[in-house]
Amino acid sequence: MVSVNFGRSRQNDVYTAGVHGRTPTVPADFAELERRARAKMSRRAWAYIAGGAGEGRTMTANRRALDSWAIVPRVLRDVSERSLQTELFGQTLSAPVLFAPVGAGALAYPDADVHIGRAAAELGVPYIFSNQGCAPMEGVADAMEAVKPGAPRWFQLYWSTDDRLVDSLIRRAETMGAAALTVTLDTTMLGWRPQDLNLGSLPFARAEGIDQYTSDPSFWEIVAERMRDAASTGETAKQEVSLGAIKTLLSIVRNMPELSGILSTGRKGRSTGLKGRSSGLKERVTKGPAAVQTFLDIYSRPSLDWDDIASLREKTTLPIVLKGILHPDDARTAVELGIDGIIVSNHGGRQIDGEISSTDALVDVVDAVGEEDVKILIDSGFYTGSDVFKALALGADAVCIGRPHMYGLALNGADGARDAVANILAELDLTLGLSGHTSVADLDRSALKHLP
Ligand code: GLV
Repeated sequence: MVSVNFGRSRQNDVYTAGVHGRTPTVPADFAELERRARAKMSRRAWAYIAGGAGEGRTMTANRRALDSWAIVPRVLRDVSERSLQTELFGQTLSAPVLFAPVGAGALAYPDADVHIGRAAAELGVPYIFSNQGCAPMEGVADAMEAVKPGAPRWFQLYWSTDDRLVDSLIRRAETMGAAALTVTLDTTMLGWRPQDLNLGSLPFARAEGIDQYTSDPSFWEIVAERMRDAASTGETAKQEVSLGAIKTLLSIVRNMPELSGILSTGRKGRSTGLKGRSSGLKERVTKGPAAVQTFLDIYSRPSLDWDDIASLREKTTLPIVLKGILHPDDARTAVELGIDGIIVSNHGGRQIDGEISSTDALVDVVDAVGEEDVKILIDSGFYTGSDVFKALALGADAVCIGRPHMYGLALNGADGARDAVANILAELDLTLGLSGHTSVADLDRSALKHLP
């Protein structure tokens, strides 16, 4: 848990361990964290998780924009008692930070989502489950409950072209105890991602990161329907047989426990919500690729528009948070529709090269709707406590952390993911106090100076 004056207690823990000759597994600065995680991860994992769109200019812009704001401390203000505690949608959080949804996490560490869930529950901050997760949401919720009953969790939705799936995912999110529903708006198609393209690597094509789908009965209905249609029109695609295709098939089977039995995968069975699916070898080998193809065809809806978002209110009573808002006019429209929260985000620089930085967009969005009854969150390029401080001072209510927790996960599973975010919170607490503040709620732009 994140104690009062967390920075001091974390420093004490680390330095006390140092007295015994132990140094932290998860480095305290982002540059070293990134270096060590890269050394640990496969090329495919690194390409997918660290990679950005195009030439990486949006990622650079995210950094530059944060660096263009300097913290201007005030002194002699008694900062001996500090608190990071905050509230979002009726839940008290130990800090204004969330674990961002990151797809295909098992590339970095087996059963990634379960470990990340435990890490978030230990820290008392929410985990936004990815729609492209590597474990069914119910199992992750159970793992979080085991750490702390009521541990806060949200669900992130990609709006599929098939509403049966959208409805089912929303129902499941409500049932597993999501406190908010986040809809990602900026990924109706995947951006141009050279790191993945150069390796010819799309994790989802190997059934990495599609567990929310393969654990969903509606999804399998859609797969079965498509298989029936293909059979009746005789449209079954002829596949080229190659070593690569066989490896991909094995990966698909390994990543779909409900199809297991073909191989001894060594993976434990997971709760999939599927019953009585065991079938003959031939059927299983065709169902896996059919499921992957179905996913690729329906996972996201390029035609998504504001009417779809307006219709969400009839689909759920959960607070709705729109992720991927960058333009102040879109923020205004969201507020007019009564949306509960927005996440200012350029998807970690993964979608459009040369896009506005999330920090520059935050300033515009706060100026446009900061006075309204809407929570404003941000992500994309927030790697340190100082970065989080700046976002809060610019008017964000909370910050979502992505790559740092994935790198911690790669280094040391649940403990690593927790430590990576704990380091950020510790630095946030110290930055808060050292700049003359005792509560994150006190922060405003007077704590910063914009550098030309
Ligand atoms: C979405 O899942 C992504 O790959 O960014």
